[in-house]
Amino acid sequence: MDADELTQSVWDISKDEFPDGSPLGEQAKFLLHYAILAPSSHNSQPWRFAVRDEAIEISYDETRWLEVADQDKRELFISIGCALENLCIAAEHFNIGYEITYRADEDDDLVSTVTLERDSEPSSNRPPELFDELTERYTSHQLFEDQALPREARERFRRVIETDDVTLYLIDDPEQKRSIGELQADADEAQMADPAYRKELGYWVGTGALGSSWLMARIGQAVVSHFDLGDREGRKNSKLIERAPVIALLATHADTPTARVKTGQVFERLALLASAEDIAVHPMSQVLERPETRTELAARTGTGEEIPQHLFRLGHVEEERTHTPRWPLEAVSSTEQ
Ligand SMILES: Cc1cc2nc3c(=O)[nH]c(=O)nc-3n(C[C@H](O)[C@H](O)[C@H](O)COP(=O)(O)O)c2cc1C
Repeated sequence: MDADELTQSVWDISKDEFPDGSPLGEQAKFLLHYAILAPSSHNSQPWRFAVRDEAIEISYDETRWLEVADQDKRELFISIGCALENLCIAAEHFNIGYEITYRADEDDDLVSTVTLERDSEPSSNRPPELFDELTERYTSHQLFEDQALPREARERFRRVIETDDVTLYLIDDPEQKRSIGELQADADEAQMADPAYRKELGYWVGTGALGSSWLMARIGQAVVSHFDLGDREGRKNSKLIERAPVIALLATHADTPTARVKTGQVFERLALLASAEDIAVHPMSQVLERPETRTELAARTGTGEEIPQHLFRLGHVEEERTHTPRWPLEAVSSTEQ
């Protein structure tokens, strides 16, 4: 994938361009414009889509796997789950039914097949307003305000999850947050002390995928690749965690690729709902990237038999919404006969 191809123009997609009356295969391609707006770790966008008649196959692209930070492909599958969720929300908006087959546990790069069905009733109870947030959602990196998350918002978060496969923990106890912040600092220090981790992060900063201008991206790459900033990152990130009104954790019983895809779907649904409610969202993955801190996180948050999959801050912040770029749809999709 060529960094030069990354573009902001993907965010300008308009629902008025939906090819009404066209064959389902054409409509499937249109839905993919929304799938590629999904969040992904380091904005690596590790997805590939193939439209075959009325089915969409979603695979992962190993060249965009963060093989140092994400050794067990947890973030890769979560990211693809986010794209799958966007696809489902867009399909429902245009009254296209679908059936999802999860294939991530099989031994190749195919993650899921989505078979479309015309003019069907929406098959889920996702709130319709999530659709408009597909082009609005963004990740916030700021310190959140000292303002609690309303009880009603927490209830809506719980209600929007319609699966038993993934559990949502909302943590607001100051002592627990401090303890997670401590783990974050440990994880940051360990990751940043690893030259291979810094090189990988530097590469992604250098592509501009994380949203800076070309020059800033190059400077950022040089700094990240050559200096161990673990101590500074650790202090900054643990403060972000301690001061957030809520730390959310998604956990699953199974620790399989499919469980991670489903975690991604749930996360994206929550992120879109948060966007609709002007609540900022910020995933923080370092604790989960190291087996020892991941196990310790489970102990400190009391997930019991469940395994932590995705950790993110929720809160309020005054800032302008900004979008990171994406590879255009043509670069990540194909139509197969
Ligand atoms: C699985 C996953 C893990 C992520 N981990 C982090 C993280 O550790 N730190 C961070 O700042 N952002 C993290 N993000 C957010 C991505 O950096 C962000 O989604 C990506 O840059 C695209 O930007 P956008 O969400 O604003 O569209 C993560 C996102 C996903 C889906």
